[in-house]
Amino acid sequence: MKQPIDISLLVEKAKEIRTNAYAPYSNFKVAAAVLSDTAKIYVGVNVENASFGLGICAERNAIFSGISDGMKHIEALVVIADTDGPVRPCGACRQVLSEFCHEKTKIVLCNMAGEMQTYTIEELLPLSFTLDP
Ligand code: THU
Repeated sequence: MKQPIDISLLVEKAKEIRTNAYAPYSNFKVAAAVLSDTAKIYVGVNVENASFGLGICAERNAIFSGISDGMKHIEALVVIADTDGPVRPCGACRQVLSEFCHEKTKIVLCNMAGEMQTYTIEELLPLSFTLDP
């Protein structure tokens, strides 16, 4: 679907919810905002747990929220944290992104200081896992 992509709106939405992140164990609060192929925006924060392995990243929460609402493809994703440089998505989130991104999907890594770097999924995860290589 052709649509103008307003990255600054996605950054604003992610910044708005970042303080909702539940990160009492790492104190590392992350937020993500996803723009769907149907021009909807979905947001997510990381949610940790006393049983450490049960925590989930902000990106996956945003993506799964979109999928639950009928999103088929991601046009853009913004991820933000209070890091020195733009935050880097973990490997698990890169693999999940690879499921729903197309070659031109904008993946924008940000920090609270306003730094931004934009990548494609191929740049972030070359040779992603597939059942049919
Ligand atoms: N985290 C994310 O939310 N996204 C990432 O891509 C990497 C890490 C979260 C998981 C955990 O709650 C905290 O950051 C520290 O690893």
